[in-house]
Amino acid sequence: MTAEPEGPSGGVLIVDFGAQYCQLIARRVRELGVYSRITVPERALFTLEHMRPAAVILSGGPRSVYAHDAPALDAAILDKGVPVLGICYGLQWLAQHTGGRVHPAEAGAEYGRTALEIVDDADFLAGCRQDGIVWMSHGDKVEALGPGFEVLAKSAPCPFAVVADRQRKFYGLQFHPEVAHTQDGARMLSNFVLDIARCRTDWNPGSIVENKIAAVKELVGDDGEVVLGLSGGVDSSVAAVLIHHAIRSRLHCVFVDNGLLRHGEREGVEALFRDHYHMDLEVVDASERFLGELAGVVEPEQKRKIIGRIFVEVFRERAASKKKAHFLGQGTLYPDVIESVAAHGGATSTIKSHHNVGGLPEDLDMTLVEPLRDLFKDEVRALGRELGLPSSLVDRQPFPGPGLAVRCLGEVTRDKLAPLRAADRIVREEIESRGLEKNLWQYFAVYVPQKSVGVKGDARVYEDVCVLRLVSSVDAMTADWELLPTEVLARISNRILNEVKGFSRVCLDISSKPPATIEWE
Ligand code: XMP
Repeated sequence: MTAEPEGPSGGVLIVDFGAQYCQLIARRVRELGVYSRITVPERALFTLEHMRPAAVILSGGPRSVYAHDAPALDAAILDKGVPVLGICYGLQWLAQHTGGRVHPAEAGAEYGRTALEIVDDADFLAGCRQDGIVWMSHGDKVEALGPGFEVLAKSAPCPFAVVADRQRKFYGLQFHPEVAHTQDGARMLSNFVLDIARCRTDWNPGSIVENKIAAVKELVGDDGEVVLGLSGGVDSSVAAVLIHHAIRSRLHCVFVDNGLLRHGEREGVEALFRDHYHMDLEVVDASERFLGELAGVVEPEQKRKIIGRIFVEVFRERAASKKKAHFLGQGTLYPDVIESVAAHGGATSTIKSHHNVGGLPEDLDMTLVEPLRDLFKDEVRALGRELGLPSSLVDRQPFPGPGLAVRCLGEVTRDKLAPLRAADRIVREEIESRGLEKNLWQYFAVYVPQKSVGVKGDARVYEDVCVLRLVSSVDAMTADWELLPTEVLARISNRILNEVKGFSRVCLDISSKPPATIEWE
């Protein structure tokens, strides 16, 4: 069973027709201070009744409205008196179900930039510039509008770029207002969400702490106990503090030391959660088990699989020992939550969530407590700040679940982990002591087991390579390599070569993602 937070009424329900930009629409709405939630077409009516939104947005999607496998949305959604905005495929669906005609794709698709000629700027397009650039990406297009609709704007290839039935508050766009390349796209969304639909602007991730705590209390009851895998990362830490506020000593945290942690990580978690918050924290030293099973393994995917499997085994053993705990706490975020429809497609369909604690299996037979499952990462950070978590934790760089294993190329051994850990510590110290981490998404050292000749003191050495990886990114999907001031690079290199035994050379990785990934394995 999953604890599903109920959205406040007055928000925006977004129907996902399979759009690559759906999450972006949800974010843009939340940036306006309005709660938004995404659902699949098959669940839209059910969610509408449940959530009572003040507006519905129909997203774009890759299909043709004529395709036999076109997403099925019940047209009754148009009879609920709720304002509707259709974007791209959403507009085509809207046109098709309000007496208009849609022209199939053979006529040729339209992609890219086009200028918008506004013919009516009374409401939806108020404050938008004439000839502003908008971003099109569609195959089908609307050929005729149904009764009640009028044109608010057109573009050279598209006579129905923005349309409206003002009586019923139905609006449609053939382009994407949510992408940054569309000039005035944010203004259009704001006009629809705030002025036309009059959504409630009470969404503020920092101000929902009390509601979240109350929801956890209600779910867990007066004597329920929760076990939570604490990694020391932002999500599980914020989830732990929140759940702890709700149920105090009935929260049991488990921190697994897999031997692949950075310098000071375990101690930091103990100091914050056990000493400062006085949480029940069990530290399981499983490093022997992890490193033992990793011995001799060089293939990156195999390394990851082994680490994931042992994590689940260790966590299950510890959870099973806490006999009274029937609840499993997780720091699942909104982007990890996939609404899916059961085979019969009914409204009772399940909501599946990605198990972020090392992919724990369903048969753990525990009720999930996921207080962050309706939040984006930056909202979780805001919540963490509100809860008083230190910036060193809330704003910390991502650290992968498999830890240093994916930065220690080839076989993972204690002999390689020790110098890697020491070099990584130096990189972090030199960057963080100067506040340079604010411009970087991640900054770390990599152990490359390639021997090269050096000279230390008067002696010839033949040692491995330490690579410095410094990247900027917004979401880790793409990344750019970054530089530091020369004197900082020099200091890092100098310290690694002088203080760490095992490296004769420090190199800088100047590869962007793509084609390279951020991690080396
Ligand atoms: P890549 O290397 O694919 O990494 O460019 C993208 C982002 O994901 C992090 N990463 C992981 N995080 N488990 C995680 O929790 C993993 O197995 C994993 N692999 C990569 C990486 O640090 C970067 O932020």
